[in-house]
Amino acid sequence: MTIFSRRDFLKLTKGFLTASGLAVIVGPVVAYFYPANLEETPSEPVLVGAESDLPPGESKTVRYGRYPAIIVHTSEGLRAYSAVCTHFACIVKWDAQRNEIACPCHEGFFSPYDGGVISGPPPTPLEMLPIELIDGEIFIGGAA
Ligand code: FES
Repeated sequence: MTIFSRRDFLKLTKGFLTASGLAVIVGPVVAYFYPANLEETPSEPVLVGAESDLPPGESKTVRYGRYPAIIVHTSEGLRAYSAVCTHFACIVKWDAQRNEIACPCHEGFFSPYDGGVISGPPPTPLEMLPIELIDGEIFIGGAA
């Protein structure tokens, strides 16, 4: 005599898979209608690192409060932006070949000079963050 029949096992497995499938579908829908609070920003400046470690043409992504920020060393100097895409909040990346900030989700592209939308569906520019150099160290945000 078995305690746990084959039929019970299949029912349990089916229930687990159904619950998992619903979670995969419902999770993003809930996140879309109830987006995370994007207002949270650090009150103090955030250290990015030494300017010498970020040569022209390169970028660095750092944690900035709950969300990442992207710092790009452009030909016009250092720029910092929220790395949260203004379309559906994917995290943008530096595309050195295009010399643009790219969103991998829907092929949105932003200017590294002012964060403006170059192409794609993002409705507004990336949020520019204050940036300051202190003794060769890069700080973003806060009252640096
Ligand atoms: S989320 Fe960035 S282009 Fe859609």
